[in-house]
Amino acid sequence: MQEYIEKNRDRFLNELLDLLRIPSVSADSKFKPDMLKAAEYVRDRIAEAGADRAEIFETEGHPVVYGEKIIDPALPTVLIYGHYDVQPADPYELWNSPPFEPVIKNDRIYARGACDDKGQFYMHIKALEIMLATGTLACNVKVMIEGEEEIGSSNLGTFVRKYKEMLHCDTILISDTSIIANDVPSIETGLRGLTYVEVEVVGANRDLHSGVYGGGVANPINVLCEMIASLKDEDGHITIPGFYDKVEELTAAERAALNAAPFDLEEYRKDLNIEDVAGERGYTTIERTSVRPTLDVNGIWGGYIGEGAKTVLPSKANAKISMRLVPHQTDDEICALFTKHFESIAPASVKVKVVPHHGGLPYVTPTDSVEYRAAELAMEESFGKKPIPTRGGGSIPIVALFEQELGCKSILMGFGLDIDALHSPNESYGLFNYYKGIETIPLFFKHYAELKR
Ligand code: BES
Ligand code: MN
Ligand code: MN
Repeated sequence: MQEYIEKNRDRFLNELLDLLRIPSVSADSKFKPDMLKAAEYVRDRIAEAGADRAEIFETEGHPVVYGEKIIDPALPTVLIYGHYDVQPADPYELWNSPPFEPVIKNDRIYARGACDDKGQFYMHIKALEIMLATGTLACNVKVMIEGEEEIGSSNLGTFVRKYKEMLHCDTILISDTSIIANDVPSIETGLRGLTYVEVEVVGANRDLHSGVYGGGVANPINVLCEMIASLKDEDGHITIPGFYDKVEELTAAERAALNAAPFDLEEYRKDLNIEDVAGERGYTTIERTSVRPTLDVNGIWGGYIGEGAKTVLPSKANAKISMRLVPHQTDDEICALFTKHFESIAPASVKVKVVPHHGGLPYVTPTDSVEYRAAELAMEESFGKKPIPTRGGGSIPIVALFEQELGCKSILMGFGLDIDALHSPNESYGLFNYYKGIETIPLFFKHYAELKR
């Protein structure tokens, strides 16, 4: 296997670079043709790897790529999931090189999607090629690569329900998360859920002269800021009634285990160039970013932002607000609690509107399952160290739905690093991580097949 990787090293990289050249931004309709181009590219590479099926399925939104290699119906089946869509590359001016013209620098691939998730799911296609070329594939493989993860996977639920039979599997393997460090392998055993809303606060029926009317009518921007500020108290607790009702407090032992993972606060601060961290009182940074729910403003706008000064009372103000959820909280319920509360705190001088965007449920997976054990053994073999279980802070909305619809657990065997700058300018993925993933994935299949025997 190692020999096959060495012999095909450059081609494995060049194929990924070609994929990274396709600007498959799902959020922006201007890139619609590129979405199909990326899907076709992925389909063709799956076919080339030796799958006996590789197809594109249209959806109401962006297409899904599906492929499979069934070697023996009696063997266990692993479904590989990933996403070929990427986040918008804006702001372009902050990139050191154009986001869709990948470059290799300091042993890293710089491009939008390098880590999230093109570089990571492409490792699976290369692993499939290796296993088929070397006659070592020990499980049936199904591959599903979607194009709407970064916009909430809203059409994927329908797809999964419709093609339940086709997607039937024993477990799901996903590389779309991170490890602690290249010499500290880890496996995420959870993901947070998400509720995303957009709010609008409207005052007078038109923009007003801030001298003539200022002081006499509500300024929607001021009101929106006050409303947002009131959503957390001085301890960083969210004030929405009922918000924490279903949040599970971890036991002292669980907290200790979570905080035993290597974490250097000093380094964390230095990396982000901040004097101090911030968050909910009584919890560590690890806890705040994994097992605790959050509420954050993702965007806020209104009024005059052009050159110079304009004395005006704007007629409206808007914000985009997201909440990360933890086990037992549901996106629908939290969205309803938010909406009710936000409307209730609005003064009579304004009107408010809350529009829900996408959402997703949180997810956890045990560390004593066959699939977790297989991932653990695979990483232990390739890294030479047993991986540490961690709880991830990010969200992959489809994972909880997979469990509901397909009845199986997903293993989050990702290879990214926090420094990969996902969703940011200058996103990158280490060559070490790319090849380490390609090396580790076949080991997962090997161990999974053995443990299932
Ligand atoms: N791959 C990420 C999620 C992730 C990143 C999990 C790092 C763990 C560690 C995924 O592509 C993502 O960005 N998800 C979105 C959710 C979506 C609904 C927009 C997120 O978490 O914001
Ligand atoms: Mn991702
Ligand atoms: Mn992402």
